[in-house]
Amino acid sequence: MPAPTTPPPIARERLPALLAAMPKAELHIHIEGSLEPEMIFALAQRNGVALPYADVEALRRAYAFTDLQSFLDIYYAGASVLLYEQDFYDMARAYLLRAAQDNVVHAEIFFDPQTHTARGVAMETVVNGLYRATQDAQAELGTSSSLILCFLRHLSEEDAFATLEQAQPFLDRIIGVGLDSSEVGNPPEKFARVFARCGELGLHRVAHAGEEGPAAYIWSALDVLKVERIDHGVQAIQDPALMRRLAEERIALTVCPLSNLKLCVFPELAQHNIRQLLDAGLAATVNSDDPAYFGGYLNQNFTELFAAVPELTSQHAWQLAHNSFAASFVPDEQRRAWQNRLDDCFERFAQPA
Ligand code: ADE
Ligand code: ZN
Repeated sequence: MPAPTTPPPIARERLPALLAAMPKAELHIHIEGSLEPEMIFALAQRNGVALPYADVEALRRAYAFTDLQSFLDIYYAGASVLLYEQDFYDMARAYLLRAAQDNVVHAEIFFDPQTHTARGVAMETVVNGLYRATQDAQAELGTSSSLILCFLRHLSEEDAFATLEQAQPFLDRIIGVGLDSSEVGNPPEKFARVFARCGELGLHRVAHAGEEGPAAYIWSALDVLKVERIDHGVQAIQDPALMRRLAEERIALTVCPLSNLKLCVFPELAQHNIRQLLDAGLAATVNSDDPAYFGGYLNQNFTELFAAVPELTSQHAWQLAHNSFAASFVPDEQRRAWQNRLDDCFERFAQPA
């Protein structure tokens, strides 16, 4: 039977179960943002690192963010407990176990090596711990995953080049590079040469753009950095010509609804613009960004978003999951196999209960 190009409609009351059950890819997850407060304290104790918070509850109380920078300050402090290969392994292992519960069959995982190398942790320690967790997840859980090295945009391009140099021996363990951290005032142009070099090395390229920053940063991420996906990208809505281009070229946006809510990009989830993006033909996807900080993993993002925006239907759910595979950096055969599993899932839900 040929795969349906549009899925059968499914009743609204079955949406929460459908959103949880459908197979999906997660394309925007910062592994350091999956460090739960309990693990931060356990690692602090294991490694003898002092934290400026009395306990888990005090740390959780600090998670009241007003914008991206207010979050990043706490996020980098949390990552300071990571010292040894086993710490990176344990962090990624916990995320991959949690993601499997949400029927994430494939994850492309961001990591921020400069946060660690600046504290004297070797690149090798970071990459080996994370990579070993991805290998074990494939063997033990059947979850596919890969690693994307992100450059911190508040640091210099020279620092990014030094980081790329340190990563050189491990490039067979990294599928691509990204650009994250403080967006406004750090435009993509700052990293033009290092991204060009990454292109020559055959690495995939993505960048955060249009999270808090202007639509102009999305244009320059595409034209200067030559990225294949835009992380966040919700500010594209300000620019009709950009919207047309993103739709025509099917450039995926890795949208993170709960992140946008917690960082005050939208005052309420009900005002999130993902439905407008989808209805304008953009290849939006749903992702968790930093789930330990923003109130939920991938299925929580889907269920809270769909509960808050009643215009979102099972058709949108299918489109979002389908887009997540379409935008994944995997061989076409693997992509089609997951998309077929998605269609089978919708067929099952369309049968009378
Ligand atoms: N690093 C971790 N999460 C981020 C986000 N949402 N934006 C930019 N940098 C980040
Ligand atoms: Zn992000």
